[in-house]
Amino acid sequence: MSKLSQRHLLGIKDITRQDIELIFETASNFKDVINRPIKKVPSLRDVTIANIFFENSTRTRLSFELAEKRLSADVVNFSASSSSVKKGETLLDTVNNILAMKVDMVVMRHASAGAPHFLSKHIKANIVNAGDGTHEHPTQALLDAFSIHEKLGSVEGKKVAIIGDILHSRVALSNIFALKKLGAEVMVCGPPTLLPKFISSLGVQVELEVQKALEWCDVANVLRIQLERQQLKYFPSLREYTLYYGINKKMLDDLKKKIVLMHPGPINRGVELTSDAADSHHSIILDQVENGVAVRMAVLYLLAGAQG
Ligand code: CP
Repeated sequence: MSKLSQRHLLGIKDITRQDIELIFETASNFKDVINRPIKKVPSLRDVTIANIFFENSTRTRLSFELAEKRLSADVVNFSASSSSVKKGETLLDTVNNILAMKVDMVVMRHASAGAPHFLSKHIKANIVNAGDGTHEHPTQALLDAFSIHEKLGSVEGKKVAIIGDILHSRVALSNIFALKKLGAEVMVCGPPTLLPKFISSLGVQVELEVQKALEWCDVANVLRIQLERQQLKYFPSLREYTLYYGINKKMLDDLKKKIVLMHPGPINRGVELTSDAADSHHSIILDQVENGVAVRMAVLYLLAGAQG
């Protein structure tokens, strides 16, 4: 079996184009599996996976759990809000206690950037980063790039505009790394206050006008305003943000070429996207969610193969 170059998936920054292509090839096979009447394969039988989430999640958590169950792994779920973390236990103690119960792999979401990297230096289990603060969200970027590949035939040479709150977005950073590794041209677009100063050093174009970004791109990946991470006021009001950066169906219909609309979720309907845009034929948002299960199955399967 082909292997990934890493035994953890901590970020897209650390993996190679070959790793990404291997994940896509494996995910395509698993996508066939999950569309069969019998959706389960025995690939991870006797492998125990702990999903430890220190931050809220709907899609990522459900998607990992489904992926694990489709692969026949034994699954345990941990949520910080109902755990002994509330009594002052450290991250390392929490995880070591979970591992003492013979867990082989850990899928972790944490509000602190670098938390999974810290763990990877202290524990033997394979670790998958399910989102660390404003840093990386590697499986989201993989499923986004896989969805572009599926819809447009390849990622190489495609123009992808990432629009919205780039400053607070782990999805943006992981997408930039993945898309650049796969040969796409990447643009970021948003209010200047929501664009990190270092962003052009990552080899991306910067655009402040959403209409120009839409006219330039083949794919618009729209991000939500992450109000929960904003201690300062980055724009006068949500109404004003929507006025300048909100995307509606008419804007997409009126473009001279067809573009693909993406969003990692959760959507703030009526803020970054109107419902008529999010639910339109331009959108592949629910395809992204479907692909998330297959991509996460591929990641877990390939990392489990890297154990030996
Ligand atoms: N896209 C994403 O990470 O969604 P959740 O926060 O619901 O997991």
